[in-house]
Amino acid sequence: MKNFFPDKVLSLHCDSLTKPTAFVRTYGCQQNFADSEQLSGLLQAMGYGFVTSPDTADLIIFNTCAVRENAEERVFGNVGALKKLKERNPNLTIVLCGCMFQQEATAFNFKKRFPFVDIIFGTANTGRFAEFLFRHLFNGEKICEPRGEFDTEFDEDKPVKREDKLSVSIPIMSGCNNFCSYCIVPYVRGRERSRSADAVVSEAAAAIAEGAKQIMLLGQNVNSYGNGFTRLLSQIDSLEGEFFLDYMTSHPKDCTKDLIDLTAQSEKITRRLHLPVQSGSDRVLSLMNRGYNRTRYLELVRYAKEKIPDLSLTTDIIVGFPGETEADFADTLSLIEEARFDSAYTFLYSKRSGTAAAELIDDTTADEKAARFKRLLEKVSEVGLERYQSYVGQTLRVLFNKPQSGKSRQGITVEAATNRDLTGTFADVTITEAKKVSLIGALTN
Ligand code: SAH
Ligand code: SF4
Ligand code: F3S
Repeated sequence: MKNFFPDKVLSLHCDSLTKPTAFVRTYGCQQNFADSEQLSGLLQAMGYGFVTSPDTADLIIFNTCAVRENAEERVFGNVGALKKLKERNPNLTIVLCGCMFQQEATAFNFKKRFPFVDIIFGTANTGRFAEFLFRHLFNGEKICEPRGEFDTEFDEDKPVKREDKLSVSIPIMSGCNNFCSYCIVPYVRGRERSRSADAVVSEAAAAIAEGAKQIMLLGQNVNSYGNGFTRLLSQIDSLEGEFFLDYMTSHPKDCTKDLIDLTAQSEKITRRLHLPVQSGSDRVLSLMNRGYNRTRYLELVRYAKEKIPDLSLTTDIIVGFPGETEADFADTLSLIEEARFDSAYTFLYSKRSGTAAAELIDDTTADEKAARFKRLLEKVSEVGLERYQSYVGQTLRVLFNKPQSGKSRQGITVEAATNRDLTGTFADVTITEAKKVSLIGALTN
């Protein structure tokens, strides 16, 4: 919907003639953040301003994540807390959307439990937000539309309001076809669809022209980008200017040597490879339907580290998958030793109904899982600290997003001892000290 009568919305929505304001809170992954930038872009085009607290907003959006149970629980509590805002301001519009509400049962449950919510829709209906808001503001309708067909193509027409102009995220695809047995994403995001390379390259070029210093390409499995990921990356790599070129997430089963070779030659592609392994046990990997085994994963890691000596390897690990034995878990610990991850996101397995793993027998006790999780964290930080210490003495290129700190080309937080305000610039930093989650150094002349 392109013509939206912003003036009418303005006068309907609030008593005064001041701009109506919106507050957008995003849970979950970068994809959701990218969706929020589109929802905000639409609101901005309609005349909304933005506030950083829900207390004074005329419109509140919670864009939610369903990947683990604790992600859903947080939303429950936060939506409950909106009731008093609605009592204070009956003109407040409350919108719930995103992955949680693609699940019909959840959507209707929220509608019943939180009758003060105005609009609920799932990810398949993100493109209908303008229509829903219109129906609510003009006709007073309450909307609950969890279903809907996923688009078969990318809608290229949407305005975007970027949260961060320095580091710009660009979705190159959405959905997922992998059906890892534990994962809800394919159900709440639909099948994979890729944007045209032209659209992606021109969006990247425009962002760089406007001052972006980092381009982050997004997809659940960028390696299966329909029009050739390595080719797309090399097209963006050849754009003029200094910027870091990054991507999320790379699936080990589709990560090619071509991609690693391109990274090795490139001046811009970040020296970080986020390659979620999930488990070090072949038995568990196969139950997870990941499509690779330990040997293949480690081979890929060896190849990447050989070609790119300053590579920072990071990963995701799940502990307590149904039926995971002590021996399976020991395989995960030993894989961390062998792969030598700089850091890892660690998760306790969370049962998601509707997924294949939800049908498996899970006979590991919660205590046992908690104990494994603790051991996992210890191993990850032990190896991580050793890896971080290995940067001491090295000079890293850093993009400063704050006056004295930023991210290195490896994606590692670096703090520089300086009084200068380096925000928005690149500088070389010689590392003098490693901390748990960051490196400290001095500017190199
Ligand atoms: N598409 C990305 C991952 C997206 S979800 C990929 O395949 O790499 C991010 C991470 O959440 C996953 O890598 C996995 O480690 C974790 N995760 C997903 N589903 C989970 C579940 N049911 N329980 C615990 N962790 C889960
Ligand atoms: Fe989930 Fe697997 Fe798809 Fe990642 S690749 S989003 S873990 S199904
Ligand atoms: Fe969560 Fe949806 Fe992303 S479930 S991880 S926000 S795709």
